[in-house]
Amino acid sequence: MQVLSVTSECVPLIKTGGLADVAGALPGALAPFGVTMRTLLPGYPVVMGMVKDARPVARFDNCFGGPADLLAATVAGLDLLILDAPHLYDRPAGPYLNQSGVDWVDNPERFAALSWAASEIANGAIKDWQPDLVHAHDWQGGLAPYYIARSGAAGRVRTVLTIHNIAFQGLAPASKIAALRLDPADFHADALEYWGQISALKAGLVFADKLTTVSPTYAEELMTPEFGMGLQGVLRDRRADFTGILNGIDDEVWSPASDAEVKTYKAPKGKGPNKQRLREEFGLAEAGGPLCVVVSRLTEQKGLDLLLQALPTLIGRGGQLALLGSGDPWLEDAFRRAAGPNVGIRIGYDEALSHRMIAGGDAILVPSRFEPCGLTQLYGLRYGTLPLVALTGGLADTVIPATPASIGAQVATGVQFYPVSAEALSNALNKLCDLYEQPESWAKMQRNAMGQAVGWDQSAARYAALYDSLMTKR
Ligand code: ADP
Ligand code: GLC
Repeated sequence: MQVLSVTSECVPLIKTGGLADVAGALPGALAPFGVTMRTLLPGYPVVMGMVKDARPVARFDNCFGGPADLLAATVAGLDLLILDAPHLYDRPAGPYLNQSGVDWVDNPERFAALSWAASEIANGAIKDWQPDLVHAHDWQGGLAPYYIARSGAAGRVRTVLTIHNIAFQGLAPASKIAALRLDPADFHADALEYWGQISALKAGLVFADKLTTVSPTYAEELMTPEFGMGLQGVLRDRRADFTGILNGIDDEVWSPASDAEVKTYKAPKGKGPNKQRLREEFGLAEAGGPLCVVVSRLTEQKGLDLLLQALPTLIGRGGQLALLGSGDPWLEDAFRRAAGPNVGIRIGYDEALSHRMIAGGDAILVPSRFEPCGLTQLYGLRYGTLPLVALTGGLADTVIPATPASIGAQVATGVQFYPVSAEALSNALNKLCDLYEQPESWAKMQRNAMGQAVGWDQSAARYAALYDSLMTKR
């Protein structure tokens, strides 16, 4: 089966968050199931820099305000199609924000173009290749199922949309209907309209054949007002076509036994030298409590303001914190100010350091207010770095909380807390420290964690089955 994946980020070319990891992993994970996946990506400068030998496979003379070439290239085993549209993508800074950290005003057009190119490909724009199915990710791919549904490929090329984060909905003013190549007749509450605006994400939710999100618990949460961010009704209407499929991680890149950034180890005991090195790297002294790590975007979603409030509890128990992150300036500043003898802070983005932190920490903290899946708690499990997580979304689905019974049954892998408040987080940190003071239970939990399957095998099988279910219906 031929699948076109439509995404605004993809490792190893461009990444701002977990979507890039998932988009980069799916083609390899699905190959054993007979799925050939090509990945459509915007031609940002960093992408263009990595695909110097790309060959043109199609040209669009009028691609949302200028001409565009569709290029084919292979990078790190990924079969890429790149939309080279300089008027849309040849800009400095990240994929979504300008140098002042503000969304580009033409983001609706920039990603409508990506989605429209997917539809053109579904309709035969490339001479020798056509997808059976288009799998779009997040709002940036949200219009692809719409354009396909309104094109000649409708019904022939099936569509799947995956929600990685409902907080980003791709809203655009109604005045852009024509510019975005939308049919004014579709601008109503049962299709493209979201409270007077166009929503690219909603378009995908209404028009895709199947919808997925990245964990079963987040799928249920999204159908409630608390988490659905206004789209809960649309998702409830589509319940029969909507499932949660847990993300995996690349368990070769994230393997304590072979990680080039790490003093490699196969059993929890082997973490020792990594912990020592991490303390040195962050200027932390010896301490009696757990060394906790955080690797995260610093935004409201991640609940790290709660950690700032609960930090005295951890430090009071002899614990330590090493944090790596970047994001909202006020959170960056607040963490910088929190630095001290037992609190090490690095503001920035550093892939190699993130590996050393996950390997060297005793525990990894993920106190998110909502978390569609979350990847860093999975890295933690793999490295015997016990996750302390909020009971929400994918965090609820991937961590088995420590209780006397779960420790006895040899299944406990971490600590969970609820509600997501500073007080509950404080209590959870106390619990973590209690567990840390029982080395036998701690070591058992580490072994359970390191034995948990966190790769792609099971989830890839579920995506493949979902694709198959659509093929047989054609
Ligand atoms: P989200 O996509 O919401 O940011 P995920 O947990 O799914 O959350 O994915 C985040 C990814 O980005 C992980 O691979 C994590 O290691 C990485 N990451 C986040 N912040 C940093 C950072 N400052 N330095 C290095 N890697 C980071
Ligand atoms: C989003 C979510 C995160 C998820 C990632 C990949 O960025 O915030 O929870 O792991 O997408 O699906």
